[in-house]
Amino acid sequence: MRSDWKLLLLMAAAFAAANAQDLVSMKYKVFPFCNCPPSGFPYSLSPPKDYGNGKYCFTLLVDTSSSTEACARAGLYKIEFNVNPACDKWSLDIKATINGNFSLQKPDFHFPASPPAPPVFSLNIPVDQCRALANKVVDEFIAQAEGVGARLLSPLNPEPYCEGSLVKVCLTFASNADAEKLEPYALTMADTWAGFLLDSIGCPSEFSPFNVVVSIRGDGTWPDAPASKCLNAEASRNCKPLPIRFPPCNCTTTVGATPFALLPYTETVPGTKKDRVQYCFRTAVVQPNDPNSRCGSSDTLAKIEFWANETMRRSVLGVYVRPSDADTFRYIAPSWAAVGEQTFKVTPLRWSKAQADGGKVCLEFNQNVDLSSFCLTNSSRKVCWMSLFSPDNKCCPLFLAASI
Ligand SMILES: *[C@@H]1O[C@H](CO)[C@@H](O)[C@H](O)[C@H]1NC(C)=O
Ligand SMILES: *[C@@H]1O[C@H](CO)[C@@H](O)[C@H](O)[C@H]1NC(C)=O
Ligand SMILES: *[C@@H]1O[C@H](CO)[C@@H](O)[C@H](O)[C@H]1NC(C)=O
Ligand SMILES: *[C@@H]1O[C@H](CO)[C@@H](O)[C@H](O)[C@H]1NC(C)=O
Repeated sequence: MRSDWKLLLLMAAAFAAANAQDLVSMKYKVFPFCNCPPSGFPYSLSPPKDYGNGKYCFTLLVDTSSSTEACARAGLYKIEFNVNPACDKWSLDIKATINGNFSLQKPDFHFPASPPAPPVFSLNIPVDQCRALANKVVDEFIAQAEGVGARLLSPLNPEPYCEGSLVKVCLTFASNADAEKLEPYALTMADTWAGFLLDSIGCPSEFSPFNVVVSIRGDGTWPDAPASKCLNAEASRNCKPLPIRFPPCNCTTTVGATPFALLPYTETVPGTKKDRVQYCFRTAVVQPNDPNSRCGSSDTLAKIEFWANETMRRSVLGVYVRPSDADTFRYIAPSWAAVGEQTFKVTPLRWSKAQADGGKVCLEFNQNVDLSSFCLTNSSRKVCWMSLFSPDNKCCPLFLAASI
């Protein structure tokens, strides 16, 4: 048994480009994102040695002592690295050598085969919004307390605590009896503030459903603040994001309806001329939710449609597409749907599953055009909504991509 093969990689090569956010809906959430035993295999890599200029080398180690017989017989077929998807740029050239010879197949990026989840936006309440909310709560609370003659101790302008999605503000009563005077009003107050908070956050379509909870309790750390001896109330409001009205046709928009998917991030690369820029999207192939259904058995990606601002008609200078089996990008003329449909079309693609597995679609603009002025969304986030169409236009899973 050879036991000290040298494996040389001329850059941190990457085969499984996934990040934590994309893994939310994936079947195998832990690297290597597949159904394979994590141990029992005789091969491992030494820690990398940095040779400078982006060259890293690993030594392949073989230890058969604890390997299962089946694994020891299987041989070494490929090596996957879990990488930051931001590194997955077509301009990035990665080569691998094994004992000094280039590997037969060039290293390539690949997305694990499960529907990529939309990016998870964490809800951060900006500090000024947090303070405004805290001030409103304190003012209304003090007014209510004065109305029923419940005495509060100073400070009556407490410093609010703002962190992430938590807004906390504390007031002190002169006694338990004073606090109890507010009991009949606590639930109404909590409910009003929950409604106010939800109104100020809004319920944009790219959010997953979430709850706004307002709790009046003793001081402590959310969510474990202790019940107070005298005044407790809790109210919550639910945000169910409204579906967006795109694409403007009757087709199945569910992610995973077809085997085709878009990765949830965009990348920016130089354009074909000095003063131009390209925004690129990457297609992927996933396990459809129901492989036997009409959409699930679809095997061609016919076109991609973007929800876009049609006043930008003249801003798109070109569309460049590259299926995974091509070395170069093909130019497609920009194309828009009928006026009023706010739909930009990348067509025709007619990609097979193999071609869509790692395909790229880039839109070219003048350098001063921001992708967020082209893509329409009904919230303040910079995201693009896109549908991947089957040839019969019946299946059009809708994806969201944010720039990274
Ligand atoms: C590297 O390439 C040379 C020449 O093609 C060949 O003789 C040698 O066996 C190769 N080494 C490995 C480890 O494949
Ligand atoms: C988002 O769109 C939905 C329907 O398309 C609409 O009802 C909702 O008000 C919009 N939300 C915002 C924040 O614009
Ligand atoms: C959408 O299409 C489905 C089947 O393809 C059909 O049953 C349904 O009535 C259509 N809805 C509308 C609004 O056209
Ligand atoms: C489209 O862009 C124009 C000009 O930039 C802007 O005035 C308009 O509000 C945008 N339309 C939508 C639906 O956002």
